[in-house]
Amino acid sequence: MRSAVAITREGDGPAGRRETLVDGSAVVGAGVGLRLPHLREVATRAPAVEWLEIHPENFLANPHATELLREIVSHRKVALHSVGLSIGSAEGVDRAHLERLRRFADEIDPLFVSGHLAWSTHRGIYLNDLLPLPYDEESLRIVTTHVHELQDALRRRYVVENPASYVGFGGSTTPEAEFLAELASATGCGLLCDVSNVYVSASNMGYDPYAYIDALPAHAVAEIHLGGFIAEADAAAPGGEVLIDAHSAPISPQVWDLYAHALRRFGPRPTLIEWDNDLPTLARLVAEAERAERVATSVSNEARRDAVAR
Ligand SMILES: [Fe+2]
Repeated sequence: MRSAVAITREGDGPAGRRETLVDGSAVVGAGVGLRLPHLREVATRAPAVEWLEIHPENFLANPHATELLREIVSHRKVALHSVGLSIGSAEGVDRAHLERLRRFADEIDPLFVSGHLAWSTHRGIYLNDLLPLPYDEESLRIVTTHVHELQDALRRRYVVENPASYVGFGGSTTPEAEFLAELASATGCGLLCDVSNVYVSASNMGYDPYAYIDALPAHAVAEIHLGGFIAEADAAAPGGEVLIDAHSAPISPQVWDLYAHALRRFGPRPTLIEWDNDLPTLARLVAEAERAERVATSVSNEARRDAVAR
């Protein structure tokens, strides 16, 4: 797969911030989420994927894992996906954690630094969930302020991921895709389109996942995630089911179809396979990444045939 990629230019933007632009002139293929059980295998036998994504919170207090990561970044591009920045928290971003992340990012020089549109801290307590926020003017103001703060501290473009949704707020005034588009416009941040999250949220909340993809600003989409979900009985709706973004299963046929649609809409994009629970072998993850490459190649060939026929 040949993909658009983040191009980092020193010194552009306010206060010398390193602005990252997606223009397709540099490329990366599909990657896999690197979890601690696979760390030594990846450090010693480089897998056949072009890039990897890690959760920096798994490394910040783990010197041995960080040592292996240093070996890996010498031969593989690595992206950071933070699960601790809580950009949706009204109390603000934890500056001590942000400073730890800045130092880590400066050492790793990641392909991307990303995190969810969610909140997970309250009065200094870190909650083990990515919690939803209402999509309204006040939330947009809060999240915009925090994304500016992150980008100024990291001196990198931050990339914001759409969450998997299980509940909505009656007070929301803006559809999620529009909220993300406004956030990207206000801050210059990138967007991480988790296609599986789009499918899960659309099923749970009752909207069209294809229309959601169509509503995102293609130029801002820097990265795509694909992960497996599970279905559970919905206690709130007898006979119904709720989809859970469990990252514990193969990617579903419906998500592969939606991924192809996303590539037609956005163009080729760096795509990451996420699998966190019931972790399979690394070879199984690499096979999913290879499937993503095949889908991307097929969409590119289709676009080329269409261009020739015109
Ligand atoms: Fe994701």
